[in-house]
Amino acid sequence: MGTDLQQLQRPAVAEILQARTEIELENLRVKFLGKTGAISRLSENMRNLPKEERPRVGKVLNEIRVAVTKALSERLTELQSKAEANKLSGIDETLPGTPYRIGGMHPLTLLQDKAVQVLRRLGFALAEGPEIETEWHCFDALNTPADHPARNDSDTFYLPDGRLLRTHTSSVQVRTMVEIEPPVRIIGPGAAYRRDEIDATHLSQFNQLEGLYVNRGVSIADLKGTLEYFVHELLDPGVQTRLRPHFFPFTEPSFELDIRLINGGNWMELLGCGMVDPVVFEQINAKRGDQAYDPEKWTGFAFGMGLDRLAMALFGLPDIRLLVENDQRFLAQFVS
Ligand code: PHE
Repeated sequence: MGTDLQQLQRPAVAEILQARTEIELENLRVKFLGKTGAISRLSENMRNLPKEERPRVGKVLNEIRVAVTKALSERLTELQSKAEANKLSGIDETLPGTPYRIGGMHPLTLLQDKAVQVLRRLGFALAEGPEIETEWHCFDALNTPADHPARNDSDTFYLPDGRLLRTHTSSVQVRTMVEIEPPVRIIGPGAAYRRDEIDATHLSQFNQLEGLYVNRGVSIADLKGTLEYFVHELLDPGVQTRLRPHFFPFTEPSFELDIRLINGGNWMELLGCGMVDPVVFEQINAKRGDQAYDPEKWTGFAFGMGLDRLAMALFGLPDIRLLVENDQRFLAQFVS
């Protein structure tokens, strides 16, 4: 029987080493080592052998089992690495990988963040209001009469229920004063909407930054000092500023603040501002049902700045639409 057995080993190992797939290999494992496989059957037959032959035959059988097991595992490793290599064929794994591009902040966000930081250092706290506003918060409370051109259908987006998309962030002043008693010192950055024809300098959605400071004895000197400090910190200490008389229904007196960039040549308008009109305080008191904003005790200043135009001047943008087109070639220039 010994030689019979040895004759089994060679073809078994040869067959295993020729298996072409993992499934074929598994079938061979069952064929030789499985419960009803060749080797198991031979082991069972040992019972019929004379006692003295059993140790020798047992030894040979064991050797065969070891050899078959080894062949199976060798072939499995081979087949697996072949499969791996096939998956990678056509791929040169020595080439450098595609670099991962880390995004950056949008230029408007960079500008807004910096403006907010500077004003925070002056003690201004962040305030918010909804972009869908009531006419009262956007216009009436701000002393803007019903026949004011800003309220016209052709200037403002109205909703069917009479609400509107806020035309400025000044509604945040109103919301804040209705809610909290003076003194207040807040800034409200956010989107505003006007029914403008879209062109190189106009979008129907734009970004503003509102400021409001109400306290005892606030004066134009405070307004001027605050805005000058703000401009110098935000842009450059060399930037010139000037206040130019203007009109807004909710501030009296009102101004526009112009700046002249260092090598910029011309003056450009940066923001509208002024001393809070006592009429606004009266509107707030009426809404609150108290005299918290008694105009005899409190004065204040407010300002509202367009961030998009400033971004254009600062970054030398020829067209405001670059800010909303999401063109990677444009945006990538601001990634630091
Ligand atoms: N809300 C005004 C605008 O959008 C700007 C402004 C804000 C003016 C606060 C005065 C005070 O043009």
